Amino acid sequence: MSATGKARPVPSRFFCTSCGNESLRWEGRCPACGDWNTLAEAPTSARPRRGGSTRSGPPASARPLRDAPPADAARVATGLGELDLVLGGGLVSGSLLLLGGPPGIGKSTLLLQVAAAIRRSGGSALYVSGEESAPQVRLRAERVGSEALDVDYLGATEVEELIRAAESAQPDFLGVDSIQTLSSSRSDAAPGTVSQVRECAAALQEFAKSSLTPVVIVGHVTKGGALAGPRTLEHLVDAVLHFEGSRSHEHRLLRATKNRFGSVDEVAVFRMTGEGLLPVENPSEVFLRGRSEASGSAIAVSFQGTRPLLAEVQCLTASSRHGTPRRTTTGFPARRLALLIAVLERRAGLPAVERDVFVNVVGGLRLLDPAADLAVVAALASAELDRAAGNRAFIGEVGLGGEVRAVPSLDRRLAEAARLGISEVFVPVSDSRSGRDDSAAALEGPIVVPIHHVRALVERLR
Ligand code: TYD
Ligand code: MG
Repeated sequence: MSATGKARPVPSRFFCTSCGNESLRWEGRCPACGDWNTLAEAPTSARPRRGGSTRSGPPASARPLRDAPPADAARVATGLGELDLVLGGGLVSGSLLLLGGPPGIGKSTLLLQVAAAIRRSGGSALYVSGEESAPQVRLRAERVGSEALDVDYLGATEVEELIRAAESAQPDFLGVDSIQTLSSSRSDAAPGTVSQVRECAAALQEFAKSSLTPVVIVGHVTKGGALAGPRTLEHLVDAVLHFEGSRSHEHRLLRATKNRFGSVDEVAVFRMTGEGLLPVENPSEVFLRGRSEASGSAIAVSFQGTRPLLAEVQCLTASSRHGTPRRTTTGFPARRLALLIAVLERRAGLPAVERDVFVNVVGGLRLLDPAADLAVVAALASAELDRAAGNRAFIGEVGLGGEVRAVPSLDRRLAEAARLGISEVFVPVSDSRSGRDDSAAALEGPIVVPIHHVRALVERLR
């Protein structure tokens, strides 16, 4: 006991070695991820606070918000239009961004292309890799364009060494490939473990904030789709971009799952070519390519962020061999599907409730826009009736009474359908009567069919 009698035991904190969640006491099971025996103790004193003790040093001075630089002024457009779209206008100075995705999807390529784009616009870029040697990165650089060869490369796996180099180079952009290969000399844990990843991300965060450099770190994603190891990493960074798409498929989707400076709804579409990733000019076309003309397929016109995209919804129904019918859905919310199946049975007399129902949105898109309801109902009805829906698109939200409800921005949806050569579009009745501007209607476009109820839709398909 100390003479003053004020010394208290250092409080401990517990971190889940699986998801990184912090708990104040030990538990057999992590309250966040539910894994057993994963909590490990980390005394507070073992994690040195940056900036030393909270009680010493000059007091920090607060400044009026008016004096802070406006956030938009600090955005750096990367020049990669699709990426800027997802970011909400470009990289924000001093922000830390995590680029996640499965191996082989193109994370390192995108990182290098961002660095090259910054070089092209006259800035300097530092590319740090713990994964690939300079000759390997050079090989990639030769493919993606000559500016990439002017990007500074550093091979490093120690975060302190990396930050010293960045502090002396003062680049306009810092890219790090990958967080899993980094380690901090402050921690004895192996690279890629929760404590290392946290330590390294925190150090990079601090560098980004203090130097106002935008920093992008690559993170690998596990088979389950989560960022390997550290879910807490997602809390530490300002934005998380996920790169998705199959390796065999040349198209890649990039979407933000977290964005402190913009929306998380935008989807960017890239194509992996011999010269790196190229933006896809016409994403709707990609999602409709190879569309099946069989029954059970319907086209939705769904907003992904600020732009409408056409997507194919596929549905298959089969007689159920088990007591409880199966519902399998990819790209469309399962609860919403259950609701639409019930609506179709009760309001339109199509008894799909007892059947197995499989729904798939083609191309990896996710239809979270309620306006996709009518296309899912159309795909379901088409599958049940075994009648092809043809070259038609379906726009509308479906209510519990089976009524087809109005959706926002119908004009832009119709214009996109017209551009893609859709011949007939089913829309909510209220929308077809009012709120539509005639310039869109005057366009050489699809026939617009107002539909008030799912029953009417089923009759049309029958
Ligand atoms: P990569 O960026 O290494 O993926 P990740 O860092 O996510 O693991 O690239 C993945 C694949 O892309 C690789 O198999 C090679 C291919 N590729 C091209 O097809 N064209 C190119 O110009 C480049 C650079 C890569
Ligand atoms: Mg890589």
